[in-house]
Amino acid sequence: MIQTALLSLGLVAAANAADLMASDPKVDWSGRRVANADGSVSFDWLGVAARVQVQGATFVTVTATSDAAHRGTRLKAYISNQGFPLFPQVQFWVPPKDHAFMSNTSALFTSDGGSVVVTLENIVDAQYGTGKTTVWAFHTDGTFTDPGQRQPTEAAPIPAGGHRRLEIIGDSITAATNVVRPPGAGSCGDGGYQSDWSQSYSGLLCHRFGADCSTVAVGGKCVMRECGGLQMPDYFTAAFYGDGRNPTYNFSSWAPDAMVIDLGTNDMRAITKIGAGGMAQFTNETVQFMKTATVLYNKPDIEFFLTAGPMENATQIGTTDAVTQGKAMGLKVTFINMTTACWDARQHGNSDWCDGCAGHPGIEGHRGMYEAAWPVIGQVMGWN
Ligand SMILES: *[C@@H]1O[C@H](CO)[C@@H](O)[C@H](O)[C@H]1NC(C)=O
Ligand SMILES: *[C@@H]1O[C@H](CO)[C@@H](O)[C@H](O)[C@H]1NC(C)=O
Ligand SMILES: *[C@@H]1O[C@H](CO)[C@@H](O)[C@H](O)[C@H]1NC(C)=O
Ligand SMILES: *[C@@H]1O[C@H](CO)[C@@H](O)[C@H](O)[C@H]1NC(C)=O
Ligand SMILES: *[C@@H]1O[C@H](CO)[C@@H](O)[C@H](O)[C@H]1NC(C)=O
Repeated sequence: MIQTALLSLGLVAAANAADLMASDPKVDWSGRRVANADGSVSFDWLGVAARVQVQGATFVTVTATSDAAHRGTRLKAYISNQGFPLFPQVQFWVPPKDHAFMSNTSALFTSDGGSVVVTLENIVDAQYGTGKTTVWAFHTDGTFTDPGQRQPTEAAPIPAGGHRRLEIIGDSITAATNVVRPPGAGSCGDGGYQSDWSQSYSGLLCHRFGADCSTVAVGGKCVMRECGGLQMPDYFTAAFYGDGRNPTYNFSSWAPDAMVIDLGTNDMRAITKIGAGGMAQFTNETVQFMKTATVLYNKPDIEFFLTAGPMENATQIGTTDAVTQGKAMGLKVTFINMTTACWDARQHGNSDWCDGCAGHPGIEGHRGMYEAAWPVIGQVMGWN
């Protein structure tokens, strides 16, 4: 009798709890990812995000695993019921594979029975050994409902049926490397701990515009082949960072309305090596990258935004030449001047220039980059 009662109780609890597979249409994903046959979703690029909505829930949890040996990525969750939509609530590591003691289910939201949208974001670049992350399912004791369209944090709502698809290509700056400098640290570097995509200019732009964003960025990389080895034209065709030179990304499932390209800082290596004609070659390969993107996406009218700065100013001339040459070829290209972003942020008191670790823009520098970018993108795209 007692056993039967306990059994029924267990069944009732199970019937009230809801599981939502990661590939369910009620999960609003953005960024490069692959939906697996078993209903899970895998990714490794940073900035990949998932949104779910619940009604009458006292909790929302997520089950996520990683194939990393040492540790997975860090994910950040936002809860929409705080009056300021993207206030960060939770940050946690996805456990590595074959772990014995860690749970791969993490709490994202707990309350006394609320209705919220929970947004989960990948904030660390895969080059820090995060491995490939697989999200299996979301769980709640409430009900999962359609979260509707992603909306801007700082602009008018996106009209019904409209969309804002933004892709951001870059090096360590865009990879959110070294963003969070520990207060008072005389010097520091990143090992995945100082990374935070959500506080990078890319994250700020995506939040502001309510954009469906894709970020493809790898530290130390160039647009130029002459830098040697795998460079951004290779990674651009990869569904996962770990795919390297294999063109695994399916370009027909999504295409950006706008693409920001923040490259040049590392290209100085190749430009200097080439000497005379080096800068012209940088311009040539920048234009070629844009042209290739329009072909791969089969979308000739992508609005490109080429940036310069803030870690060096030398490639600015090559970038503005690429704007001119791209336009002459019929591409849509606009320049964004980020050369003074760290200076404007008034956070240049460190011995190593910008306010983040290892000379990189930090939270203030990224804010400066974002302040340089959003008015230009907003005006060209009509995203206001
Ligand atoms: C969660 O982790 C455990 C090891 O602690 C593992 O046995 C299990 O298969 C994992 N779950 C999933 C969905 O991978
Ligand atoms: C690529 O995506 C398109 C559109 O979603 C789909 O029709 C096609 O089958 C995919 N191609 C491959 C090779 O998976
Ligand atoms: C880049 O240089 C190559 C070789 O000189 C030339 O064939 C090509 O047209 C140039 N591309 C652009 C986009 O300027
Ligand atoms: C870039 O140029 C700006 C404006 O002249 C200057 O303030 C800044 O120091 C320069 N940055 C670097 C890294 O040279
Ligand atoms: C970018 O801004 C700096 C500082 O105001 C200025 O010196 C530079 O000429 C600008 N670059 C372009 C291409 O307008």
